[in-house]
Amino acid sequence: MGAPAKNKVFWGSFVHSKTLNELEYLHDTAVGVDVAGRIVAIEQGVGDVAKAVEALLPRLGWAEADVDVVKAKDGQFFFPGFIDTHLHASQYPNVGIFGNSTLLDWLNTYTFPLEASLSDPAKARKVYSRVIRKTLSHGTTCAAYYATVDVASTNLLADLCLAAGQRALVGRVCMDQLSPAYYRDESPAAALAATRASIAYIESVDPGMKLVRPCLTPRFAPSCSGPLMRGLGALAAERPDLPIQTHISENKNEIALVHELFPPSATGAADGSYTSVYDAFGLLTDRTILAHAVHLSDAEADLIAARGAKVSHCPCSNSAITSGAARVRWLLDKGVCCGLGTDMSGGYSPSVLEAARLAALVSRHVAMGGDERAKLTVEEVLFLATRGGAEAVGLQSEVGGFAVGMDWDAQLVGLGTVDADGEVEGVREGTEEDGNVDVFGWESWPDRVAKWVYNGDDRNTKKVWVKGRLVHERIHS
Ligand code: GUN
Ligand code: FE
Repeated sequence: MGAPAKNKVFWGSFVHSKTLNELEYLHDTAVGVDVAGRIVAIEQGVGDVAKAVEALLPRLGWAEADVDVVKAKDGQFFFPGFIDTHLHASQYPNVGIFGNSTLLDWLNTYTFPLEASLSDPAKARKVYSRVIRKTLSHGTTCAAYYATVDVASTNLLADLCLAAGQRALVGRVCMDQLSPAYYRDESPAAALAATRASIAYIESVDPGMKLVRPCLTPRFAPSCSGPLMRGLGALAAERPDLPIQTHISENKNEIALVHELFPPSATGAADGSYTSVYDAFGLLTDRTILAHAVHLSDAEADLIAARGAKVSHCPCSNSAITSGAARVRWLLDKGVCCGLGTDMSGGYSPSVLEAARLAALVSRHVAMGGDERAKLTVEEVLFLATRGGAEAVGLQSEVGGFAVGMDWDAQLVGLGTVDADGEVEGVREGTEEDGNVDVFGWESWPDRVAKWVYNGDDRNTKKVWVKGRLVHERIHS
């Protein structure tokens, strides 16, 4: 970490999503990654790592001294980095602390006080540094972060992502109503000025928006006055290069509040639905990430599909704060792009792998409600965690899979291999590196991946790279 960038050759097994339903398994494969972190060659069936290097280097014009070779051990595999399409960096200290609350009381009891306290720069540094390290250690190479209302600490989050090498969307939270007076924008004009200030800062630290980009972030409709929403819609039109993130249709009381605050007479929207409120203000676009989408009507999902807006499915949060079970199959059938979000700290887990597992489980609960087709497969939840998430954040041509021209945002996954005596090879019994996944040796590759999805955790994420840079490594890798 921190060393000057070198060209790299990765050799071993590679697994990634080909389509929603299909994982591709590439064995005995070499992937060349240049100093800019871009994949420049993929060769299958090379024989072994030495032959891979021998074949690739002359073709790429690389001298051996300028190349780092990274070999996956037997049974390990490279997998695309996870994309967390919705999380609140500022809420990380509260993971697991939600009692029996539901959304609106949870915000007032737990969330607003913590977020407000992060205007203390030392506290913000401590929290943001930790959430970046933690999510990287779980294989999250790209995160769509909410920060807080405070500009300075939002900017600090962008600085820290850049320094740690995590790809990120960073949003200063816009909210000028509903929350306590100690935590809100003073006026729509003040909110817009603060948003512009944060955008300008983030663009100045990463001019090409190569790693970190600002994100327009109306917290959710109830927190934003009509004039603020209108102003953000105008800013979204002025800056078609910027993503937008918000929450939608998470909780029934929240939806009732939206109907109360934004009747059709206030927005000019035809039907007064939650979705049409964002649409009326120019915030429902193909760059918009909508977190939750639990209780949408058919007409709303159709409108989301028509606008090309994306959904961040947050099954951990939706279960923890009792919001409901989002119907992901129904959204996918309507052609809505879906990714996964941990939604910390509505969700208690920093892991997108956990979100994938919970997406599978919640889909089974939807199925138990009578729709057998609702069940999501291992292949499907991994697609949502990678390719779906990449599309949700607008980076589908850069990340989410392995192809020449894409960036090397990846994780090396290692599962425990059980030996003849029932011990896991290479680890001392009782050490943390045992992990939860035991591979006996007779499992097919799809079965190994299923075991990872249902029992894996950060102990299985041995190394993590973003844009070719090593950003996390376990000691026992
Ligand atoms: N709706 C408005 N703010 C929030 C938040 O911080 N978390 C979640 N889950 N929903 C919200
Ligand atoms: Fe959220």
